[in-house]
Amino acid sequence: MKVTVVGAGNVGATCADVLAYKEIANEIVLLDIKEGVAEGKSLDIWQKAPIDLYDSRTIGSTNDYAATEGSDVVVITSGLPRKPGMSRDDLISVNAGIVKGVTENVVKYSPNAIIVVVSNPLDVMTYCAHITSGHPREKVMGMAGILDTARYRAFLASELNCSPKDIQAMLLGGHGDTMVPLPRYTTVSGIPITELVAKDRLDAIVNRTINGGGELVKLMGTSAWYAPGSAAAQMVEAIVRDQKRIFPVCIKLDGEYGINDTYLGVPVVLGKNGIERIIELQLNAEEKALLQTSRERVREVMDALDKVNAQAA
Ligand code: NAI
Ligand code: 2OP
Repeated sequence: MKVTVVGAGNVGATCADVLAYKEIANEIVLLDIKEGVAEGKSLDIWQKAPIDLYDSRTIGSTNDYAATEGSDVVVITSGLPRKPGMSRDDLISVNAGIVKGVTENVVKYSPNAIIVVVSNPLDVMTYCAHITSGHPREKVMGMAGILDTARYRAFLASELNCSPKDIQAMLLGGHGDTMVPLPRYTTVSGIPITELVAKDRLDAIVNRTINGGGELVKLMGTSAWYAPGSAAAQMVEAIVRDQKRIFPVCIKLDGEYGINDTYLGVPVVLGKNGIERIIELQLNAEEKALLQTSRERVREVMDALDKVNAQAA
């Protein structure tokens, strides 16, 4: 299996590292526009192989897409990260230009690759990659839900002083302030979370999850990379190993949840064909209303991208 990661910055390099040490692909290409950076980081990852005992080859490339030819999966992390005071949406026009150009090159050299988008604003960059690629919706998806549920699960593990391995959770919606964590679908080894955590504490944890990206931007002056890089690698693993894992993933909705033409995170089955099935949960009225708000927010940013594209045409 051959996997390309475009963008050798914090998230891309972390993702390539996880792909290598977990031997998720035997050939990994890391590509960036900054001269030498992808080559340097790839060499560093390869020099870690004798220590961590893996044999995945990691190859770097400065913007030469010939090196990516025939990739089975491509992860797009190229773009600016969020700085303090910036919203994900502030990134739209600059990152849309980058994601469009990258996707054109990806499709030229790897017409059958499944594309996993990480660049922000996530839901709208998934839209951008999808329309640029011309692929069916199952083959172009966005990573956010695994990260957001991981933050939620980590906060719950701290609250309960238990292993994060035992916490299962699901969330819906856009990657941003309108994401919809679902306490009703959260369990600890099968025990409903509502039996273990008081409502006010649970509300606080949901709120911290919603602001989880911003919390890290405030602390570090840039956005997170360890959990985002691992989350993207987990999606790649589910695809290349045909695991049929169930994760929240961003995809274009065509009527599911009563929503059309909008890219949102929903539970899906992920396997060798990309998104193999969308799971429709039976939401209550409150959850439905929160998902609609999320839809409206993502749709506004999609419309903003459409305007940028119309002006450029
Ligand atoms: P970074 O600045 O460390 O890395 C971005 C890399 O992209 C840089 O090395 C840059 O040279 C490269 N790049 C820019 N234009 C390019 C092009 N045309 N072709 C190839 N490479 C190009 O940023 P970081 O922290 O890795 O974040 C990357 C993106 O991922 C950002 O948009 C960030 O907001 C987003 N992100 C999304 C998350 C999610 O949950 N979906 C979580 C964390 C970050
Ligand atoms: C995050 O959630 C900023 O999207 C990025 O960490």
